[in-house]
Amino acid sequence: MRAATLRYSLLGIFLLGIAIGLFMAWQASHVLFGLALGSTIMVAVLLLFARDNWRQTSSRGLDSRGIRPDSLRLIVGMDPGLRREMVGIVPVALVRRMSGPRIRPSAASRAPLTKPSASRRTRRRGDTLQPYETVTLAAERHRAGIDDVFAALDSELIGLVPVKKKVEEIGSLLLIDRARQRFGLSASRPNLHMCFTGPPGTGKTTVAMMMADLLRRLGYLEKGHLVHAMRDDLVAEYIGQTAPKTKQVLDRAMGGVLFIDEAYTLYRAEDSKDYGQECIDILLQVMENDRDKLVVILAGYKDRMDRFFESNPGMSSRIAHHLEFAEYDVDELLAIGRLMLDRSSYYLADEAVTAFSEYLQVRMHQPWFANARSVRNELESARLRHAHRLAAEPGRHLSRDELMRIEAADILPSHARAGRSTP
Ligand SMILES: Nc1ncnc2c1ncn2[C@@H]1O[C@H](COP(=O)(O)OP(=O)(O)OP(=O)(O)O)[C@@H](O)[C@H]1O
Ligand SMILES: [Mg+2]
Repeated sequence: MRAATLRYSLLGIFLLGIAIGLFMAWQASHVLFGLALGSTIMVAVLLLFARDNWRQTSSRGLDSRGIRPDSLRLIVGMDPGLRREMVGIVPVALVRRMSGPRIRPSAASRAPLTKPSASRRTRRRGDTLQPYETVTLAAERHRAGIDDVFAALDSELIGLVPVKKKVEEIGSLLLIDRARQRFGLSASRPNLHMCFTGPPGTGKTTVAMMMADLLRRLGYLEKGHLVHAMRDDLVAEYIGQTAPKTKQVLDRAMGGVLFIDEAYTLYRAEDSKDYGQECIDILLQVMENDRDKLVVILAGYKDRMDRFFESNPGMSSRIAHHLEFAEYDVDELLAIGRLMLDRSSYYLADEAVTAFSEYLQVRMHQPWFANARSVRNELESARLRHAHRLAAEPGRHLSRDELMRIEAADILPSHARAGRSTP
């Protein structure tokens, strides 16, 4: 109250002084009076503008807006970007107050701040983790939802131990890459083009589809679909037709996996006029330039693919991962057969297991044997015989078990036919 009285008294004396000054200037000369009046008006206008800023930055004004000038909070609280840069030199307790419950300081957080390096793609505000935060790979796997893919890989595919290990390795590489991105650590995207080698029916296409799903879930592919292509889909017979044909397939595959089966057929060393080389050149270009949008998987027999890479070093250098699919042994083929039957609610009677195993031992050494695919084909024939056998007695009462059970008799004809060589 007393301060207000004093303020108004001083203002009164100040205005009186101005009035006396103006009166004296009027007495002295009209020109001097004009100058004094102009200066007074200018000062009054400036004071009016300054008053608002002055009020906003006064300690009471700042306080009313939750800004306390007496702490570091003022600097870091006004600019979240600056706040991020200052983490590590700001006391942890203060940071916690500034950023709320999202920040969980750990033991590592008390370590001195190392130079933060952030990639542009992950520096969106609120996305990047603080250097003292931690992640677990289990949580990252869960976040990406890839546990299902690994579970399917394990339960739906028999054997293939080295392949599963390699898929796990690729998954780990990408999980680490993702975790690093969350901290804003920059790195180029890992090269994901692959080559699957192995005989027919060993699960190459099946694993490629799972890989596409895995890459989509981890965010390395937008769509995660698989486009299957062979030489005829990519290479044309006449001049000028190969490039549009190849580009059409590439367009369809964008955002997913282009799976080129029997990829070695693209290159024909003996034919200098072959348009396969034109297709390979386009593929090489796209594999380099569009590696963020497309993953190419080349598949084929190992020896032929090795020769293909020898003749096409450019292609070889673009393939980062080689997965080898080995032929299955009898026990694995039998287990695959049982798994396939189980999925369709059939099963092999004990004698049928023996019969089927004997059949496989003969069949697997014959030409055109296609591993798991031959098993599937043979079991489809067995189902046919099973149905035919039951249908032969239309008046018989059939139990649920009989409808599910494949007998040795349903296999034996296959065994008898083992001399035939079809896939
Ligand atoms: N290890 C396995 N366990 C269970 N089923 C399998 C296994 N390997 C392959 N199969 C099944 O066998 C069939 C053929 O597999 P797929 O088409 O993936 O083989 P491929 O190697 O691509 O053959 P190709 O070289 O002839 O194209 C599919 O139905 C697949 O599910
Ligand atoms: Mg295949």
